[in-house]
Amino acid sequence: RAAGAALKGSMQFFVDTADIDDIRDLAATGLLDGVTTNPSLVAKSGRDFFDVLKDICAVVDGPVSAEVTATDHETMVTQGRKLAAMASNIAVKVPLTWDGLKACKALRADGTMVNVTLCFSAAQAVLAAKAGATFISPFVGRLDDIGQDGMELIQDIRTIYDNYPALETKILVASIRHSTHVLQSALIGADVCTVPPDVLRKLAQHPLTDKGLAAFLADWQATGQDI
Ligand code: E4P
Repeated sequence: RAAGAALKGSMQFFVDTADIDDIRDLAATGLLDGVTTNPSLVAKSGRDFFDVLKDICAVVDGPVSAEVTATDHETMVTQGRKLAAMASNIAVKVPLTWDGLKACKALRADGTMVNVTLCFSAAQAVLAAKAGATFISPFVGRLDDIGQDGMELIQDIRTIYDNYPALETKILVASIRHSTHVLQSALIGADVCTVPPDVLRKLAQHPLTDKGLAAFLADWQATGQDI
């Protein structure tokens, strides 16, 4: 592991949703490091984008990704500045296109966090890092869906980024479908996983934990003691 990477703490967990009830519930665990949204998730919430972002930023201190919808870099920057003005923890999400990369560079010059999204190749991830992205979001589930190995992409990006210890772009594993994606991300040393709420809740569950706890509680009750 390269020297820069050795400074990392634990892998961070973001939740991938625009549902404020889920976000409030998961933030209450104290283990939520941030939130990612995208236009499809906002559409699914059925709510006004800015209202949703205001609500999320009121409960989450960590990065909250909000995606631009323009495809030309000038309008992306205008939209990005409008989103960034909402709260200091907004990370503007731009797609991995040439316009997106140009917008990334401009928004980073403002001091705004930028999440470069829709990454499907290591070459794209190299460009995002060069554009100064705060986060690169490779979509592992969508690669698996078309018969490729999403986690192989994460490993390749980790290897490349570790070749350049001065790079500060964080690998944010996106399009996660199940807990094995999270486990493999941690094994590879990805910086962040953005996880759908149902998958995030399942991470703490194991049938042997439930069975073991039930046995402990029954045995304890039989002692008649109290703490
Ligand atoms: C990332 O930030 C995206 O919101 C998300 O992970 C996409 O996942 P999907 O492939 O499940 O839509």
